[in-house]
Amino acid sequence: MRQSHIFLLTVVIPVIFSKENSTRGKHCVCELQNADPAFPENKLNNVEFSAIQCSRNITSEKITEIDRLMLGLQHRIRQLLDNVSMLEKEDNGNLYAAVSLRIIELELAEIQELMDKLNRTTNDYQQQGLQTAAKFHDMTETMAELEKFDNLQIIAKERENEIIKRDLERCNEELNGTSQPPTLSPGHCGLGRMVNVSGPKTYSLTEFGTSYPYGAWGRDANPTPGNENKYWLVVLTSSNVYGNFIRQYNSLSTIILGIESTDTYISSSNPTTNTIQGSNMVMYANALYYNCYYTYSVCQFNLTTQSVSTVALPSDTGYNNKFPFGHLDNTYSYTDMDFTTDESGVYVIYATTSNFGNVVISKVETSNPPVFGQTWSTSLHKKSVTNTFMVCGVLYATRYLDKETEQIFYSYDTKTNIERYDLEFNITKRQTNIQFLNYDSRDHLLYVYSDAYIVSYEIVFQ
Ligand SMILES: *[C@@H]1O[C@H](CO)[C@@H](O)[C@H](O)[C@H]1NC(C)=O
Ligand SMILES: *[C@@H]1O[C@H](CO)[C@@H](O)[C@H](O)[C@H]1NC(C)=O
Ligand SMILES: *[C@@H]1O[C@H](CO)[C@@H](O)[C@H](O)[C@H]1NC(C)=O
Ligand SMILES: *[C@@H]1O[C@H](CO)[C@@H](O)[C@H](O)[C@H]1NC(C)=O
Ligand SMILES: *[C@@H]1O[C@H](CO)[C@@H](O)[C@H](O)[C@H]1NC(C)=O
Ligand SMILES: *[C@@H]1O[C@H](CO)[C@@H](O)[C@H](O)[C@H]1NC(C)=O
Ligand SMILES: *[C@@H]1O[C@H](CO)[C@@H](O)[C@H](O)[C@H]1NC(C)=O
Ligand SMILES: *[C@@H]1O[C@H](CO)[C@@H](O)[C@H](O)[C@H]1NC(C)=O
Repeated sequence: MRQSHIFLLTVVIPVIFSKENSTRGKHCVCELQNADPAFPENKLNNVEFSAIQCSRNITSEKITEIDRLMLGLQHRIRQLLDNVSMLEKEDNGNLYAAVSLRIIELELAEIQELMDKLNRTTNDYQQQGLQTAAKFHDMTETMAELEKFDNLQIIAKERENEIIKRDLERCNEELNGTSQPPTLSPGHCGLGRMVNVSGPKTYSLTEFGTSYPYGAWGRDANPTPGNENKYWLVVLTSSNVYGNFIRQYNSLSTIILGIESTDTYISSSNPTTNTIQGSNMVMYANALYYNCYYTYSVCQFNLTTQSVSTVALPSDTGYNNKFPFGHLDNTYSYTDMDFTTDESGVYVIYATTSNFGNVVISKVETSNPPVFGQTWSTSLHKKSVTNTFMVCGVLYATRYLDKETEQIFYSYDTKTNIERYDLEFNITKRQTNIQFLNYDSRDHLLYVYSDAYIVSYEIVFQ
């Protein structure tokens, strides 16, 4: 016979309890009798282990979404374990059955759906898919078994409804979406027309939490062998403007979990000559390209040699917050230079006095030291734009519509010099501001840093 405080357990515990009405004063004390068999904790551990294994095994680019879901599963299982251990602390060891296993089952259902989708669309990953599916089948069976312990069927109805609602919405939008006419001229590197930006696909804080609203992340657009799956993260740790180190992770999971990272310092002090100013940098061939501290120069930091090479833009180039991105009265501090990558390399987007504060695009040849290639002058006023990126030699610019929506409204084709102001690709935001945006030609994702969150979207090509 054991006694326990009941407030934590009332809702979820499948036990018989009765009020003891004798001498306990104001404390509510109850007597617990657990008629159920002990919860098979080891099985849950096995499922968790499998989930982690599966997650590790799925590394290929096309399966980042599965990675994300697996991660969600891991999070959930971890939370479940938290709950269990909390209950354990509060009470005796026989109360595991209190925890709703339905939640995990729903996660598994989502993964199943995703794997079906994957199987339909790719052959390359079939082998991996089959292995995962087998493992997944086992996991599902174990979960079904575990669910028998969920005696009271404390199914998180609300959550279930939410998921069903979301699925319905998604389905509806997909159905409706297919009939919308695309508006963009074709790119020049084998991709069809851009028809949409879907997502967010990834949405997470980093290990720095909400400490740094300005930062950047992504993958090397042209990785050196062995670095294909790495992710990099730079946070502007000083005044939201200056950064001095690059943090690298081996996978999407590790960057989201904030574990197992490696730091490379450009300099031990911050800021100082050739450290990072402003958030719109990119990684290309194991070198970081960024606006060097307090100059109108481009810096190339070679991570292999840990040395910096620089090349100066025209002297009337805006720097030090002269021509930042922004909207209305709001500017994104020190975003004078925006580095972008596309299928053919690195570009720097900036504005000059001689071009009236309008955007200028220069190709950055990634030699050592870097040099500038061709340059294009546009009529796009830099301060009215919130960010830019390039796909297949076409520059796209975004503007702020409202807290929930950023819109790709402009394009400049460097092959034809044709400018358009009539695009309408909405990007669904979870946070208000976008401090960094870049396109990765390897996975067709837009990598975004938004008020300390790392977010990704998928560009859908026809
Ligand atoms: C309260 O205590 C009395 C005497 O011990 C007992 O007869 C009664 O059943 C108890 N009431 C409840 C609700 O347990
Ligand atoms: C993951 O891969 C390893 C080695 O390739 C293999 O032994 C293991 O069974 C795989 N795990 C799952 C869950 O597929
Ligand atoms: C389980 O733990 C999470 C945090 O890990 C907490 O938010 C949640 O309220 C807990 N649920 C129960 C039923 O205790
Ligand atoms: C994938 O689809 C093929 C044919 O449609 C089917 O035979 C196979 O079992 C599926 N694999 C998985 C993992 O669902
Ligand atoms: C999809 O189209 C139908 C019919 O045109 C409309 O009723 C519905 O609201 C649309 N759904 C969305 C999500 O736009
Ligand atoms: C475009 O992306 C949005 C946001 O994810 C989505 O709601 C919509 O269904 C997509 N439309 C098409 C045509 O895919
Ligand atoms: C970085 O240094 C390595 C080693 O010297 C060299 O092979 C590579 O080309 C350099 N990268 C750039 C962009 O200069
Ligand atoms: C984009 O978002 C705005 C504001 O929410 C909305 O008015 C507009 O209709 C959307 N455009 C498209 C093409 O979805």
